[in-house]
Amino acid sequence: MKPKVYITRRIQSEGLNVLEPFCDIELWEEDRPIPKTILLEKVKGIRGLISMLSDPIDEEVIANAKALKVVANFGVGYDNIDIACCTREKIRVGNTPGVLTDATADLAFALLLTLARRIEEGAQYVKEGRWLSYSPTLLIGKDLSEKTVGIIGFGRIGQAVAKRAKGFGMRVIYANTSRKPEIEDQIGAQCVFFNELLEDADFISLHCPLTPKTERLIGEKSFERMKKEAILVNTARGKVIDTEALIRALRTKRIAAAGLDVTDPEPLPQDHPLLKLDNCLVIPHIGSATTRTRGRVAEMSAKNILAGINGEALPYPVNMIG
Ligand code: DGY
Repeated sequence: MKPKVYITRRIQSEGLNVLEPFCDIELWEEDRPIPKTILLEKVKGIRGLISMLSDPIDEEVIANAKALKVVANFGVGYDNIDIACCTREKIRVGNTPGVLTDATADLAFALLLTLARRIEEGAQYVKEGRWLSYSPTLLIGKDLSEKTVGIIGFGRIGQAVAKRAKGFGMRVIYANTSRKPEIEDQIGAQCVFFNELLEDADFISLHCPLTPKTERLIGEKSFERMKKEAILVNTARGKVIDTEALIRALRTKRIAAAGLDVTDPEPLPQDHPLLKLDNCLVIPHIGSATTRTRGRVAEMSAKNILAGINGEALPYPVNMIG
């Protein structure tokens, strides 16, 4: 009998093809997160679980999954999983680092450019039939070159954003838990204190993981330090920003604009105040959403599952099981 694997969403064939010869796969077919009550039933008897960042894999789920050997998160962030609990229960956890770096950095830069050059407003202006002539004063935006981008979290994705910024002629500063001197030289980035970054940057892009230390890292006090012209971009996790403080900062024009691929709550309800603000651009967590990237994410998740159900070390591990 093949080991049972549950997948909480339909994933790309690159992943399914890896698993199908060896596993008995069941999928949550609906295009919405699996309800917790159903997940609690589905995990009974499974050996492997491919989970999405929207599925809380907590003590309750793990307690129901007595045969579970491996959880493969479909993505790089794994703040949805109780890692300590998995480790205690000797369940291996894996993620998909590296493959989504470029796609996510591209998207952060796309948000930055869209806001700086007022692309969304421009498209709307044309659609509304208001484009009657060339105008020297129409939709004046912000330059990128010679401006400073501040990158918070200087891991793979932060560094990839830094490289893009350099290509646009920007000055790059970063704040991180540790200094990265070799990368600084390579890219031409400067490490600064967190508060200095907030005060100095024209554009701020968030790339830190969500941890107890980074939860609501960007709050009232941070916004007070930012330039009035600052544009804030978040492709990391919604909870890194204090949403209420962001709403106030955008409403009062304390900062110029925000571009969010991730939000808190996520998704935002239709009547959420952020969706009523002209200076806030929200897109639906599509950082890694390209054909090649999602194919690779699916394949890596599947390879983590195969290793885990065979009791082997995962190719892309998050925790270590002795
Ligand atoms: C991840 O994989 O953690 C990203 O949030 C995808 O956009």
